[in-house]
Amino acid sequence: MPHIKVQSMSNETLHRLQHGCETVRFFAEDPAHHEAIIGIEQEGEVFGLLLKRFGDYDLLKFDKITRPPKVSLVKKALATLAASLELKILHGNIADSSTRPPLSSSALKTIRDFEDRVFDTDEIAIEVGFGSGRHLLYQARQNPDCLYIGIEIHTPSAQQVLKQIELQKLKNIWVLNYDARLFLEMMPSNSCRQIFVHFPVPWDKKPHRRVISPAFVEESMRVLRQDGTLELRTDSERYFRYAVETFCSIPRADMHLRKNAEIEITSKYEARWKRQEKNIYDLYLRALEHSEPKPLQVDFSFGALRYTARLEQRLSLQAMVGADYFVHFERIFKIDADEGLLIRVAFGGFDRPEHKYVMIDSEGCRYYVSDPVKTTVNDRAHQKIMESLNG
Ligand SMILES: C[S@@+](CC[C@H](N)C(=O)[O-])C[C@H]1O[C@@H](n2cnc3c(N)ncnc32)[C@H](O)[C@@H]1O
Repeated sequence: MPHIKVQSMSNETLHRLQHGCETVRFFAEDPAHHEAIIGIEQEGEVFGLLLKRFGDYDLLKFDKITRPPKVSLVKKALATLAASLELKILHGNIADSSTRPPLSSSALKTIRDFEDRVFDTDEIAIEVGFGSGRHLLYQARQNPDCLYIGIEIHTPSAQQVLKQIELQKLKNIWVLNYDARLFLEMMPSNSCRQIFVHFPVPWDKKPHRRVISPAFVEESMRVLRQDGTLELRTDSERYFRYAVETFCSIPRADMHLRKNAEIEITSKYEARWKRQEKNIYDLYLRALEHSEPKPLQVDFSFGALRYTARLEQRLSLQAMVGADYFVHFERIFKIDADEGLLIRVAFGGFDRPEHKYVMIDSEGCRYYVSDPVKTTVNDRAHQKIMESLNG
């Protein structure tokens, strides 16, 4: 990701960074951790840069939480800062044109594209964690009347598949570079015919990171139309057994299991396991019922909340845990000396956490740079965040 390592900035340069740069909107500092977030506006996009101070040098880099849609914008912002402050670059990758191009394609969707979305087709299938995309591309070629929504958390894999979609001129695939565990809630009830989960990461040591969980199964059953199927394929016997147990968490289930069955297309992972003569397990769960619609009425505004002096001293950095959500104020950055706070907060469901900044100043309070995804657990976490900020 774009970054520059520069010779340690003097106080005078820091002052110019805070007050004399056209693209800088605010400077929020956490002196205890020697870090700051620089609020940037570049070509109409708003995002943050992270400044890490190491004593003999400073590192300016991409901020994971506010990630702008184009990596090229971050590079431009870094280059603009470096030029206007005359920073001495010791090392960096902003001039490196061999870094991968940013994700850009009409097949690429953002999570916002799914908020309150009405689909113009009844034939929709989802593939979670498509990796190299062999299965996703194959399915889309075979079933041109079905829209395939592929969700992949790993950006280079999403990039690679977007390239293939263009090369193969496929019009029926959407790619979402996002966490599948957060995604399903955005889909309307009864909208899909299949949800594929092929060779998910087993996460044997951190089971809470698994894609399949009781909440995921419940959401899959709601999103699938009657007789639609959730299809797991795995080489991990332990994951397979875990999935059988998890699929049983719903009140009525119709399951179908197979061992070492051939399917039409072999993914890269599958080919590797087959060469190693590993067993492969399939577990299909059929949706038995038509589900109720699930309108998401979530309001992420903060009402009349304003920054009041020493608010930072009243906020606890201990995680607050509710029945199905948590809120953790992880870091507090002071904006431009004392005018407000930028609070880095992790929140939401235990297996579906979100990271955002909450910006609170004399004008009000809001999420920076955008609201969280409209999910019910995020709504509950938001209420808790408001309650804590209200004291
Ligand atoms: C072992 S690979 C399997 C890839 C592909 N399904 C196959 O069969 O070759 C698992 C994939 O799931 C993706 N993944 C893991 N957790 C995810 C999540 N929460 N949301 C979306 N994708 C995820 C990983 O990035 C990885 O590409």
